[in-house]
Amino acid sequence: NKVVLAYSGGLDTSVIVRWLQDHYNCEVVTFTADIGQGEEVEPARAKAEALGVKEIYIEDLREEFVRDYVYPMFRANTIYEGEYLLGTSIARPLIAKRLVDIATETGADAISHGATGKGNDQVRFELGAYALKPGIQVIAPWREWDLSSRESLMAYCRERDIPVDFAAAGKKSPYSMDANLLHISYEGGILEDPWAEAEESMWRWSVSPEEAPDTATYIELEFRGGDIVAIDGEAMSPATVLAELNRVGGANGVGRLDIVENRYVGMKSRGCYETPGGTIMLKAHRAIESLTLDREVAHLKDELMPRYANLIYNGYWWSPERQMLQAAIDQSQAVVNGTVRLKLYKGSVSAVGRSSDDSLFDEGIATFEDDAGAYDQADAEGFIKLNALRLRIAAGRGRSAR
Ligand code: ARG
Ligand code: SIN
Repeated sequence: NKVVLAYSGGLDTSVIVRWLQDHYNCEVVTFTADIGQGEEVEPARAKAEALGVKEIYIEDLREEFVRDYVYPMFRANTIYEGEYLLGTSIARPLIAKRLVDIATETGADAISHGATGKGNDQVRFELGAYALKPGIQVIAPWREWDLSSRESLMAYCRERDIPVDFAAAGKKSPYSMDANLLHISYEGGILEDPWAEAEESMWRWSVSPEEAPDTATYIELEFRGGDIVAIDGEAMSPATVLAELNRVGGANGVGRLDIVENRYVGMKSRGCYETPGGTIMLKAHRAIESLTLDREVAHLKDELMPRYANLIYNGYWWSPERQMLQAAIDQSQAVVNGTVRLKLYKGSVSAVGRSSDDSLFDEGIATFEDDAGAYDQADAEGFIKLNALRLRIAAGRGRSAR
């Protein structure tokens, strides 16, 4: 038997390779993806080889990640619990899909991952895997073994001759981090006290708003079908757009977040996130929709959005209900075309201009000046009177008719 492991090349997943070989006596296939985490993925090859792995998959999934997962999610203006832009949540369905695809290609009967039994990620990986390959088996070492600390993991490495860089593992960041093109997340360490403020040195992608430039940066984003296709007039692929927005957003202190959130498994958890590009994308997308979407369509999207966000947070990307919602959202985006001009300044991002050939904004109607008969103000009297009818009846209830 054979198992495909989501392998980062780090300490935890290196231990998992050897543990799977020992405990399940199985052939391990490793899968390592570049989804924009900003670390080289190629070194994972030599590490896997040193652990006796024969089938090693290393893939650049950056474009696929942004085009097929991040962009569709942003069409819905998705935010979880009013704040979280779902940077980790949206990457898991892609990893789940590649794990089961590789299982099919290599004839493996199981997949494995390094997520703990306390978090959301295990749910996302496994719901995805079962949805895409119902007969697949899942091995989650963190739910089985008794290696509960970094020290016990290192001891296991020494015992089992697992080649890890002990110096590097020793001075690893005190936080549990997860990074991809959309965000970097920090959990654990001092963040486990919700009162304790994160130290400035934790943040990796952005300058603090205090340190950001004293002059504003302006950018223009062009939308086609609800997706950003160009920055300042230059056409770019989805992954390039997001990388560029991370750069310019980070330089202006945009996209830092510090929250306590509700995990699907029932506990509250404190996390810090840097999502510079995503924060800009959300602002810009709302601005272009404000010009191009019908009011009722926009409001209905806003009502559905928290449902859609929960589906993604809880791991239901590959569910029929998410696909149904996505079809409706995508259908609404055909008219979401045009350009938004944004101002970035010391941590803030504001839309300062928008224009579109598909605009519903009618200056001739909205003007405070003479509208040349486009709108008859006298119509408003009947509109208000009929809408007031039931309010007047309710106000009069119980009083004797005069
Ligand atoms: N709390 C966030 C989420 O559930 C981030 C999880 C980070 N995952 C990690 N393996 N460090 O989406
Ligand atoms: C983990 O527990 O593996 C990370 C946190 C999470 O999945 O929510």
